[in-house]
Amino acid sequence: MKRFAMKDYGPAREVLTEIDALSREVDETHVRVKIVAFGVNPYDISLRQGKMSSFRSLKFPYVLGNDGTGIVTEVGTQVNHLAVGDRVIVHAVGGTYGEELVIPGKKAAKKSPAISWAEAAGAVTPWLTTYNLVTHLLGDKIGETILVQGASGAVGSLLVRLLKYQRKTVFATASKKNEEMVRTFGADEFAAYDQEDVGELFKNQADTVIDATKGSRTAESGLKAMKPAGNYVVLNDLPQDQSKPGNYLHFTPSKDYSDLEALEAFNHLYEEADLQITIAKKYPFTLESVIEAHEALEDHPTAGKFIVEREEA
Ligand SMILES: NC(=O)c1ccc[n+]([C@@H]2O[C@H](COP(=O)([O-])OP(=O)(O)OC[C@H]3O[C@@H](n4cnc5c(N)ncnc54)[C@H](OP(=O)(O)O)[C@@H]3O)[C@@H](O)[C@H]2O)c1
Repeated sequence: MKRFAMKDYGPAREVLTEIDALSREVDETHVRVKIVAFGVNPYDISLRQGKMSSFRSLKFPYVLGNDGTGIVTEVGTQVNHLAVGDRVIVHAVGGTYGEELVIPGKKAAKKSPAISWAEAAGAVTPWLTTYNLVTHLLGDKIGETILVQGASGAVGSLLVRLLKYQRKTVFATASKKNEEMVRTFGADEFAAYDQEDVGELFKNQADTVIDATKGSRTAESGLKAMKPAGNYVVLNDLPQDQSKPGNYLHFTPSKDYSDLEALEAFNHLYEEADLQITIAKKYPFTLESVIEAHEALEDHPTAGKFIVEREEA
């Protein structure tokens, strides 16, 4: 079974490799999924570069990939919500970069036929982040006016769409070149972080500020925009200066969040809330594709997801 693995930490071209892996047994709680498409996340790049090795050690060869879609080929006796032949969305702790994956049944949900393989694969981590942050981390505390920084990104774009579906007032920031795209998500106000003073424009107006930028790059403007005692939520690092009164939160995935609940919500809301996923590039199922996608994500890539998809889908 073909899988794409990293044999060490380091540059994509040096450490990513193709391996012939043995299939695992499926026990009563797991399912076997033939992977059709997988998404490449900024998280995969950081893992491969060893930026997380102090708190997340990997055993090599390690197969990356949390997000994927595919077809169920075997089902454990205790998994009642899936059957052989079902088309599914999967959320793995590594392992979607390959032809096949054995995964706990509770980490796979049926995929709505309305959603393409590529879009569903690209949605997994961004949607789980969006849904759990809005629904569980903040819930009723979110307020009415929300500033989403990094609204052109995979997480940011879903945040804008979901919050607009919930009839919130949404201010959005991204680079000027992505303004038109972000406006189509329904944002009430747009500011280009590379041309405007975002903090001054939205000063003390946001009940909640969400920094969904790569590497939490907008602390200064976000803090200015947050109402005193508002919520300040980051996906990466919290600001060092927390002297402004506020509820400072770092979103992290949690065992308390149910993947099935979130993925079923995605199926349900995909059409109703217009949760389209922008695809930056779709690649064929080769090692070269994985390397190219990793290299592209190291820079400041075109907005949208990088997806590897098999032809036989
Ligand atoms: N904590 C968690 O559980 C969790 C979950 C998911 C993601 N994340 C992290 O959250 C971040 C966003 O993920 P993603 O998948 O949405 O990434 P993405 O699709 O690459 O989006 C990155 C966003 O950052 C913006 N950006 C880049 N450089 C910027 C700068 N100098 N100033 C302001 N904005 C800038 C981009 O805007 P333009 O392209 O328009 O410039 C874009 O909107 C990543 O760092 C990811 O690792 C964390």
